[in-house]
Amino acid sequence: MSGEISRRGALGIGLGMGASLAGATLLGSRALAQPDAKPNPGTTPPPGAAKQGPARKRLVRLAHITDTHIKPELRAPEGVAACLTHIREKKYAEALASAGASGGGDKVDLILHGGDVIFDAIDVGADRVQQQWDLYHKAVADNWSGPIYHAVGNHDCWGLNKKVSGTTGEEELWGKRWAMKELKIKPAANVDTMAFGAYYSFDQNGWHIVVLDSVQVEPGGYFGGIDDAQFDWLKGDLLLNKMYPTLVLSHISLFTATVLDRALNDKRERVVHPALMCIDYGRLKKLFLENPQVKVALSGHMHLKDRVDYCGVSYFCGGAVCGGWWKGPHKECDAGYSVVDLFDDGTVENRYVGYGWKAGV
Ligand SMILES: [Fe+2]
Repeated sequence: MSGEISRRGALGIGLGMGASLAGATLLGSRALAQPDAKPNPGTTPPPGAAKQGPARKRLVRLAHITDTHIKPELRAPEGVAACLTHIREKKYAEALASAGASGGGDKVDLILHGGDVIFDAIDVGADRVQQQWDLYHKAVADNWSGPIYHAVGNHDCWGLNKKVSGTTGEEELWGKRWAMKELKIKPAANVDTMAFGAYYSFDQNGWHIVVLDSVQVEPGGYFGGIDDAQFDWLKGDLLLNKMYPTLVLSHISLFTATVLDRALNDKRERVVHPALMCIDYGRLKKLFLENPQVKVALSGHMHLKDRVDYCGVSYFCGGAVCGGWWKGPHKECDAGYSVVDLFDDGTVENRYVGYGWKAGV
């Protein structure tokens, strides 16, 4: 990670998690079919809609990579290197040009990594964790020299499965702390014992970028959500930066349709598991409606890609660099990454690009 990170507006002491968060979100199939309560003036119209005016200017081009899951096996280091090389050498140019993007061959200014950087730290001992981080650092050092910022994913958290990993939970680098050390993320000042404070924000050429810590560790595992202290910080951060169009990055999606691609033939109501999508989307939606400068939210975790335009924000679930954990595509989603263009009028263009990875070759 490079560049200056900011916690302007960090507020308060962390509060206990469970009591104030709603239960798992119940998301019926009708919810996404309903028309938006208000239009999405700040986001790119869906494919087929009228094109944006020519006057806008692109301020930022970034690559959103997520779920690299690097490990020694299945040629994963080679795959991560191939992805970073694809970005560095602007091999996305042809795909972007054929999709109608202007300046398709322009370079990206930075990379946002959405987490699950390493294959897994939940179930393994310290030597294996360090081996995976070393592979990741080598892949980046050898193939990318620009800025790169990270969110922490659930698989980056060390020893959550204490029985299998042999951890006690008392280790200095237990949970998210090891990943934060490797990724140079300083913990927010307002953390309690289970909320590690891996969130921050920074400015990028007229856009404000917020990186959220969406993996909430609890005894025996984790769930998707934003702890109270972090939510208070986010409120303050958005208030202080209200004049800038804003992008939010998280590992676990704040809102996504991909969770519905489970149990597709299940005739019962579909209950979204709390580990799949943030359980407190309700209060985030309200916060974003109060802060219409929030234009786009990027996430990973599902290894699937989608776009949901809802209540003024475009939500993109960004597939996975590793596809189906380096064994091939995951469902219909090939190994890939997204090129994201951010414009001065607050509009966004997001295109998923394969980097030609062939598993098992
Ligand atoms: Fe993942």
